[in-house]
Amino acid sequence: MSSASDLNHEHALTIDRLTRRFGGITAVDSVSMVVRPGEVVAMVGPNGAGKSTVLQLISALLAPDSGSVHLGTDQLTGRTPEEIAALGVARAFQTSRVFPVLSVWDSVRVAGIPALIGGGRFGHRIPAFLELAAVLFGTRRHRARVAELDRRTAEVLELFGERLLPRRDDTAQSLSYANRRRLELARALVADPYVLLLDEPTAGMNPTETEELVRLLQVLHHRRPELAILVVEHKMNVVRALADRAVVMDHGSVIAEGPPQEVLQNELVIEAYLGRKALHSEAAREAIAAMDDGVAAGEAGGHTQVRGALQQ
Ligand SMILES: Nc1ncnc2c1ncn2[C@@H]1O[C@H](COP(=O)(O)OP(=O)(O)O)[C@@H](O)[C@H]1O
Ligand SMILES: [Mg+2]
Repeated sequence: MSSASDLNHEHALTIDRLTRRFGGITAVDSVSMVVRPGEVVAMVGPNGAGKSTVLQLISALLAPDSGSVHLGTDQLTGRTPEEIAALGVARAFQTSRVFPVLSVWDSVRVAGIPALIGGGRFGHRIPAFLELAAVLFGTRRHRARVAELDRRTAEVLELFGERLLPRRDDTAQSLSYANRRRLELARALVADPYVLLLDEPTAGMNPTETEELVRLLQVLHHRRPELAILVVEHKMNVVRALADRAVVMDHGSVIAEGPPQEVLQNELVIEAYLGRKALHSEAAREAIAAMDDGVAAGEAGGHTQVRGALQQ
């Protein structure tokens, strides 16, 4: 798993003054941030803050009105989503892109093709007819790439323990909601990206499933220490468990940034979630508790700290 590190230059994701409007709304308003190799950055903030739009701008599902995104020295702005994926920025959102009748195995395998077979960052770009000839005549290089794709597919599915591998021949549409979300993640990982974008990966998961996903991401972080992760997450226990840094968005802007424990105590952050008027009320405390929905017993230290900030 060293492909992210065997190139010498850095693969930091650099977002510079990114802006996107929808009609009269500035959904993302001059947002800048850097996610360095190996860093896990959590984007938090109330609904409508612009978090998902930032991820869609990075992966070119949306075009910005202004600003830019770079991976290392490569400009991503202006490229297609496929080009951006092939350069090593993977996203695990938009379930609809999984073909419902494809098996679990094939869904993951297909997602690895652009990077491994189709001349992405692991291959050389070669004309389509040569690629076709390679397939038809089964050249040694082509066979080697296919074997590598199979190896990676198995490796990624194994990450999910008993969740996906025993279901490798089941169709994607037959999976439970949580397993479909795992499949999305597996598809993102098979190309061995430099940067992984996750939009509320634990949404709809119960506390046990949430903890399992946190553990999986920790294992992934350990196995691929150079992988950068930018994750939108509402569950504060997940943020605390995973993130090196939290970036707080509100009304399209970054309003706070820093180590999760510090940022989550910040009064601005609490206002972003709850509104100024709520600051000292019982409702505020309840809302803080709700922010932590699904928090495991014994991980409640953060509650105390946020409440402390409320009372200042
Ligand atoms: N495709 C779209 N068309 C119109 N407005 C949109 C679209 N996507 C997002 N918005 C608006 O942009 C703002 C930010 O949305 P979003 O990025 O989804 O927020 P978040 O993910 O933080 O909840 C919201 O006001 C939302 O209604
Ligand atoms: Mg969102």
